[in-house]
Amino acid sequence: MEIKACIFDLDGVIVDTAKYHFIAWREIARELGFEFTEAHNERLKGVSRMRSLEILLEVGGIVLDQKAKEFLAEKKNNDYLKYVLQMTPDEILPRVKDFIEELRQLQIMIAIGSASKNAMTILNRLQIIHLFDTVVDGNKVTKAKPDPEIFLKGAHELIIPPANCVVFEDAEAGIEAAIAANMKCVGIGSPQNLAKANLVIPGFEKFSFHKMNELLK
Ligand code: BG6
Ligand code: MG
Repeated sequence: MEIKACIFDLDGVIVDTAKYHFIAWREIARELGFEFTEAHNERLKGVSRMRSLEILLEVGGIVLDQKAKEFLAEKKNNDYLKYVLQMTPDEILPRVKDFIEELRQLQIMIAIGSASKNAMTILNRLQIIHLFDTVVDGNKVTKAKPDPEIFLKGAHELIIPPANCVVFEDAEAGIEAAIAANMKCVGIGSPQNLAKANLVIPGFEKFSFHKMNELLK
């Protein structure tokens, strides 16, 4: 397989926004009268905003109508944005920027494939938007991961066949989406949670294009 494009999930791969999502969701849970823990928060990784709220309500055993859910999702997002708007380039996860720069030098096409509707805001805060040939985010798709739509759209925008794309993902739903898109997938995290990926790495330290090519063979 010849690697011609790399598609990066954003949250959990390039930056750790899960901690801000957690603080904002925990606040919503407290207002509703229950505790939302970090273990519960694991279930929200890679999942869309509305689906995240539905999982949170499941945890609290609360049923709400659509209007109330929309109100809470917006409230959570306004709170989350307060943290996002204070982010700095220091928060980019170790070595990921070097890896992306190496890919650029090798003329590999590069995309973001993120469920987040805040992806552009985050990329701007991190000052790395110029590194990507295209950004497919939650505003551009109708189906959430594990549906392959995000990654297929990314490949389409880069004009690269899916079979020549590698996806970088930290969430199980994202890995399933990559597999469904007929792409190779590198999991970022621990092998226990990401068993379906073709290759799992703890992070981008000591990682390179050459190494990836060898390991994905
Ligand atoms: C994903 C995160 O990248 O984006 C999820 O892993 C989050 O936790 C989802 O719910 C949607 O994000 P946003 O920024 O549109 O609320
Ligand atoms: Mg993620």
